[in-house]
Amino acid sequence: MVYSLSMREKMVIVGFGWVGQANALALKTLGYDVAYYDPGAPPRHYEEHTEVYGSLVKLANVRDWDSESTWYVVCVGDRVSEEGEQDISNIQKALDSLKGAKGGVILRSTVIPDLLEKLKFDYYLPEFLHEKKAVEECIEPYLLVIGSRPGARTEPSIFALWRPQARKVFEGTPREASFIKYFSNLWNALRIAFVNEFGDTVGRPSNKEEISKISKLIDFLFDGRGYQRYGRAFGGHCLPKDTRAFAAWYGKSVRGVSLIAAVYESNAKRQNTEREYPLLPEWFSEWPERHISGWHALSELWYAVKKHIARPTLLLKKRDRS
Ligand SMILES: NC(=O)c1ccc[n+]([C@@H]2O[C@H](COP(=O)([O-])OP(=O)(O)OC[C@H]3O[C@@H](n4cnc5c(N)ncnc54)[C@H](O)[C@@H]3O)[C@@H](O)[C@H]2O)c1
Repeated sequence: MVYSLSMREKMVIVGFGWVGQANALALKTLGYDVAYYDPGAPPRHYEEHTEVYGSLVKLANVRDWDSESTWYVVCVGDRVSEEGEQDISNIQKALDSLKGAKGGVILRSTVIPDLLEKLKFDYYLPEFLHEKKAVEECIEPYLLVIGSRPGARTEPSIFALWRPQARKVFEGTPREASFIKYFSNLWNALRIAFVNEFGDTVGRPSNKEEISKISKLIDFLFDGRGYQRYGRAFGGHCLPKDTRAFAAWYGKSVRGVSLIAAVYESNAKRQNTEREYPLLPEWFSEWPERHISGWHALSELWYAVKKHIARPTLLLKKRDRS
């Protein structure tokens, strides 16, 4: 797809890590003027986009591009303690530095619903990208979840660009948006943990042959789909911390969250198993193709042929013989 849009708005990415860089590169590719601010010196995460990196502007002060048509896209990281306490002090600090700015604020960090309510921004857009295809997924997001604050300024033009690109669009409150973000991550974590635990009841993953025996059973039902493949524990920057944070936050309520807490526990055990069985495969996932894949289409076609053409013919032959 060719993007040749020239936007009047200026986009300032605040926090230039995995999410910030993906947003910066995507917005630049979509035709915006993009600058970034980060007090650290984060490494480049998407080397295949070297040329686009070269056209991003690094700001010495976060407000250097401030104007009525500036949008600050805050992608600062949270931290979660072993006990599951979410620390959003860096996010808070970044938002504080924008107090009184003329531009609007879009928050992209992952924040527990209750903590989100204390923060000041116009729109909450949790990010759903996968690190392996982050820039592409940010140009054409699979999920677009927009949580608007009452009294938020008129939305930025990027929303109108993203809406038709997205597979699913949700519009609601920031709190609802936060729940969807955690629901998505926790569902991914649950599936990985369950498949791994179940696979372990079949055998020990001590060599490649044993691993493929176990995988054969799992793949028969799940066709090797993302998050449903036997292998390593879930890891990366998000699933462990988000599962831990949500379980601890909601676990404090009288209703508790025994299944979600167990997912984290199960995965922690899995990390020990990984050390014992280093041949366990590591999987990376991405959002499914927007349309049915060629391979999936062929297998559906083959099923239809067998069901509607081959089988009745066989039945007829059988009837003729009797
Ligand atoms: N990594 C992912 O795949 C992913 C996916 C979806 C959502 N998220 C969420 O997005 C958020 C950011 O994640 P990340 O992986 O990009 O984190 P990261 O640690 O890679 O990047 C965060 C950046 O923010 C910078 N920073 C800290 N304080 C700042 C401040 N006051 N002003 C400006 N910058 C500041 C840090 O120096 C760092 O470079 C997290 O809440 C994470 O859970 C991450």
